[in-house]
Amino acid sequence: MNFDLGRTGYLFVVEGIDGSGKTTVCLMVVEALRKEGVHVIHLREPTSESKWGQEIRLRSPKGELTPDEELTLFIKDREWNAKNRISPALAEGKVVIMDRYFFATGAYQTTSTGIPWEDILKRNREEIHAPEPDMVFILDVSVEIGLRRIGGREEDLNQQFEQYDRLLRVRQAYLEMVERDTGNLVLVDASRDLEVVYFDVLQQIIRYIGNEKHLERGKN
Ligand code: TMP
Repeated sequence: MNFDLGRTGYLFVVEGIDGSGKTTVCLMVVEALRKEGVHVIHLREPTSESKWGQEIRLRSPKGELTPDEELTLFIKDREWNAKNRISPALAEGKVVIMDRYFFATGAYQTTSTGIPWEDILKRNREEIHAPEPDMVFILDVSVEIGLRRIGGREEDLNQQFEQYDRLLRVRQAYLEMVERDTGNLVLVDASRDLEVVYFDVLQQIIRYIGNEKHLERGKN
C-alpha cells in the first residue's frame, strides 16, 4: 500500500550514532518551528506505542532478541508508525521531525546481522513503503565524542571496547549512506557546539520548505 498519497507535509529525519546529540537537536528544532507557528509533529523510533516498539524497548536491552528478530521488530514497528503516525501527519500538511528512522536500521542492524545496509534500506522502501524523507540529517561525530557525550568518563572508554567497535561500524555505514544512498542525506558536523548544530539544521529545514513553497507557487 502506498501511504504517500495526498502528501502535502514535510518529513525531516535526524540520525547519528549514540551521543551525536540528535535528540537534543530534534527537541530544539521542534520548539523553534512551533514558535514560528509551524504545525510540527515530533516522532521517535523505536516507538513506545506499537507492540513491536514496546517489545524492542523491553527485551533488547536484556539481550533477549537475536539480531534477525530485532531487525524484523524494527521494521514492523516502523510499518505501524508509517501507517498510524507519519502518513496521516503528512497528509494533513504537517511538518514531521523524526528522531531516527529507517537509516538507523540500516546503520545499526547491518553491524548486528551482517546484511548490507543497502538491502535493509530497500526492505523499508519496498516492503513496507516507509515514506521517503525530504531530508535526512546525519549528525556526525567521532565515536570518542559520542561516548563521552553519553556519559562515558575518559577512564571508562577502555571498558567500552565492544560498544566502541560497534559504533565505529555504525558511523561508517552512515558515512557510506551519505555518499551512496539515493535519498537526500546531508552530513552535519556534530562535533560543534549543539546550539550551532541545531541552528544549522533549522536553517536548512526552513530553506528547504521555503524553496518548495516557492516551487509550488511557480506551478500556478
Ligand atoms: P536512541 O538512541 O534514539 O534512544 O535509540 C535507541 C537505540 O536503538 C540506539 O542504540 C539505536 C537503536 N536502533 C536500532 O538499532 N535500529 C533502529 O532501527 C532504531 C530506530 C534504533
